[in-house]
Parts: sequence; structure tokens; C-alpha cells
Amino acid sequence: MPFPATRMRRLRGTDTFRALVRETELSPAHLIMPAFVIAGEGIREEIPSMPGVERYSISNLVEHAGEVVAAGIGTMLIFGIPADKDEVGSGAYDDEGIVQMAVRALKEAHPDLTVITDVCLCEYTSHGHCGIPDADGKIQNDLSVELIAKTAISHADAGADAVAPSDMMDGRVGAIRFQLDEEGHPDVPILAYSAKYSSAFYGPFRDAAESTPGFGDRRGYQMDPSNAAEAVREAELDLEEGADMLMVKPATPYMDIIRRVKEATGAPLAAYHVSGEYSALKAAALNGWLDERQAVLETLTGIRRAGADAIITYYAKEAAGWLQ
Ligand code: PBG
Repeated sequence: MPFPATRMRRLRGTDTFRALVRETELSPAHLIMPAFVIAGEGIREEIPSMPGVERYSISNLVEHAGEVVAAGIGTMLIFGIPADKDEVGSGAYDDEGIVQMAVRALKEAHPDLTVITDVCLCEYTSHGHCGIPDADGKIQNDLSVELIAKTAISHADAGADAVAPSDMMDGRVGAIRFQLDEEGHPDVPILAYSAKYSSAFYGPFRDAAESTPGFGDRRGYQMDPSNAAEAVREAELDLEEGADMLMVKPATPYMDIIRRVKEATGAPLAAYHVSGEYSALKAAALNGWLDERQAVLETLTGIRRAGADAIITYYAKEAAGWLQ
């Protein structure tokens, strides 16, 4: 029945009515806090292109994790920045590597914190690519997958609660699942960066992780921003290979992808609100151009409404504070 019988504003009139009919919920339980751990001691340094985000050495990371947990966030995603890099990213699959040591320290200090590790080679390779290049600079898929699977196993051995491959090589989810099962980790889930786009919004992360490619770019393995049907295929392949949870990344420029992947697969889905999305909001907020709290909560609610179950965001700790 049209107006005046129907008045959409009736249920917008009070907080109670609005809460009764709210379709999307956002709570700290949906948020995952990423963190960078760097080799060394007593380090806590701000990332210039990501105000409010710091890189921590292990003991400082453990302290930071305590604050994250106290804010009501139960899950962190860990990225490592090693002291040394080489052509084959040896630091990534070193049992005494930066992430492996950080995971042990985190789990010892905060046994209830769920620790997910980013599994990739780009922070550990001298050329900054997510795999191993051949003589012509092309990233070799199958060789890279072997090293990536090895990395995932060493993270699980160190106590990671889940592993998240972000390299976009073909077949890596299957290889990781097979080896996790072989090596006694049948219960460690895989959060697959399924639809990871070749995005300008990773710029600040690459400063933070020192992982800008030394030559070329990542378009030979990350997805073309113009494609959507391909994201659904990626998601389906990852599920067939044994992914437990999927990811779309970045989030806000790819809301349609979040929706499509969720509807096509019905699988648990995370969206990564990446470094550049964080920095854009933070810069506007620092300039007084946006109300930070409202803009951030609106953004995160939008990502949930699009279909994401979980959101990885550098705002997780702050947002948890606002939501409480
Ligand atoms: C590593 C990786 C990247 C991000 C997450 N894992 C960078 C990249 O692919 O260049 C980006 C995260 C962010 O921008 O916050 N492969």
C-alpha cells in the first residue's frame, strides 16, 4: 500500500525501533586485527603512510596483542618482516623465522587469542615477488607453491591457529591442505585469499612490509580489477582444494565481489579492508574532513552488509572500542 498508508519513517523514529529492524550487525567478534612483526628488539615504530599502525618486534607485539584482546578482538593476522631477504625467501619457511617465533610467543602469552598467519614469500624475497621468478622474471607457479606450502606447515608447527595464503599461485590451497594433513595438522583451517585483486590500495602495506616488487608488478598472479565472474571461479576452485574460509581483497572497491562470492558459494567469507582503504579514511579524519568514528563504522557495516562474515581491518582495535 502506498503513501499515506505506508510511511517508511515510522520504524525510524526511535532507537528501539531502529534496533528491532536492523538487518546487519557489526560487533568486535567479526573483526580481525592485522599486525606487522619485525626482527629486532624493543622496536615499536609508526608506519608513515599508516598513521596509528606500528611495526613491533616480538615482545612489543605480545604487548600490543594484550591491548587488542582487552579491546574485545579475538583474532589477529600476522605479517613478518625478516632481518634478511634472499632470492628464494628462505626466511618464510625457517622454523626460527620471524613469524614462527612471533606465533610461539603470542600463543604462550595469550593462549585464547586466535592467531592466523599470512602465508606468502613477498616479504622474504629480495625481489619482493610472492613467488620465485625464472630467468625472464616470470613467477614460477609450481616451484613457488612448494615453498609456500612449506611456509604454511612451519607456521602450523609453530602453533598458528589458521594459515592464510595470499600469493595467488594456482593450486596452493590443495598443496597446503595435503601437507597440513600429512604433517599432523588436520584441524588447522585455511583462510584462502581467493579473490585478491592487483590493487593500488596495497601501497601503504608495501611500505610497512618492505615488499614492493623490485621489478615488474603482480598482475601476472593477482586478479584484474575488471573481473567478477573470475572471482567466483577462484572461490570455487579454492573450496574444491580444501579452503575452509574464503577472502575477497580489497573490500570497499569490491563490494559486488563480496556479494557474488557469498551468494555463489555460501562459504564462510572474510573481506580485507586493506592498508590503502585504512590510510584514505585516516588521512581524511586527520584533516578533519570526515567524522572518523562514523565513517569507519559505516564502512565496516557496509562490508558486512555486502556479505562478509569477518573483516580484516587495521581499524579493528579502535572499532571494537567504539562498538563497546
Ligand atoms: C602479501 C600481502 C599483501 C597484502 C596482504 N598480503 C601485499 C601485496 O600483495 O602486495 C596487502 C594488505 C594491505 O594492503 O593491507 N602478498
